[in-house]
Amino acid sequence: MQADILTIFPGFFRGPLDHGITRRACEMGLVTITVHDLREFTHDKHRTVDDRPFGGGEGMVLKPEPLFECLETLQVVPREDRVAGRVKQSVILLSAQGQRFDQAAAAELAALDHIVLMCGRYEGVDERVADFLADRELSIGDYVLSGGEMAAAVILEAVTRLLPGAVGNEASTRQESFTASPQAEGSEPAGGSGAKTNGPNSTCSSGGLLDYPHYTRPAEFRGMAVPEELMSGNHEEIRRWRRQRALEKTLLAKTKRADLPQFGAGDTVRVHVKIKEGDKERLQAFEGVVISRTKGPQASFTVRKISFGQGVERIFPVHSKVIDKVDLLRSSKVRRAKLYYLRGLRGKAARLRDAE
Ligand code: ADE
Repeated sequence: MQADILTIFPGFFRGPLDHGITRRACEMGLVTITVHDLREFTHDKHRTVDDRPFGGGEGMVLKPEPLFECLETLQVVPREDRVAGRVKQSVILLSAQGQRFDQAAAAELAALDHIVLMCGRYEGVDERVADFLADRELSIGDYVLSGGEMAAAVILEAVTRLLPGAVGNEASTRQESFTASPQAEGSEPAGGSGAKTNGPNSTCSSGGLLDYPHYTRPAEFRGMAVPEELMSGNHEEIRRWRRQRALEKTLLAKTKRADLPQFGAGDTVRVHVKIKEGDKERLQAFEGVVISRTKGPQASFTVRKISFGQGVERIFPVHSKVIDKVDLLRSSKVRRAKLYYLRGLRGKAARLRDAE
């Protein structure tokens, strides 16, 4: 694959592309990356690459001429042929307005012979570049970067590692999170590389799921043990365990409540629960100490309060929509993950020490 990067900061790429898989892939001749300095395609003594926007407004806009002229020096066919898919080439403009880059887009680009990555600047790029030069516009996420350089490095890394031979054990790129082509179990890997893998690996394919958890030696580290299933040596059991964990992680990521504060056993919280009465909805607060919290897609936490001298407990599912919000009122210092011992204590003895 040939990859060309068009940028006003050519020095930026000395770091990111000189390490790991991209470096190895370059050395192996799987990809040739050429960085082009857009200032080389200017014709004034100040080597001007940007100018003020027509119609007024803040910031500077990247001029079209250096991008057009630079592209003209590369072996790229006209835009109509690229858009029609007549060649395995793509000219990409990186911008926050672009389509979201994901693993499917990485795989699509990895199947091409030639990609050109044009790095924009955050103030903007003359729109004629998007309209007449680029055949697609990509963004690496819903946030604004100062320019497309970081995005170009991210995209190149994700694409390069998908090139056949770039990653030592090809099965590992097939198995990673987001790899979206479910493979019949035990069948030849996609692309028919015939790569042999050992044991349970060869039967796992993520099929659009997030990756399963990985562990290595030591089997026990500071009291944290590796799941027994992985130590069993039973390939079928390992395969089942990995598939189950991958499913759980995927489900959890989809339903995760990122808006809830970080809290755990010992913390005092106020949970606002949505109560439906007929067609009306109201909120009810339940305030108390978290005495346990479990993990996983069915994660829940138990809150204990004293009401009229009696201990009352409620279990809340963490990812449920019935929870409107959780306020973290106080953090306490506790040694145990489960504080069931509080059930047997009264008054001062049941009080927890504040965290510093
Ligand atoms: N340029 C500025 N922000 C960007 C983003 N999020 N992705 C790609 N290029 C960008």
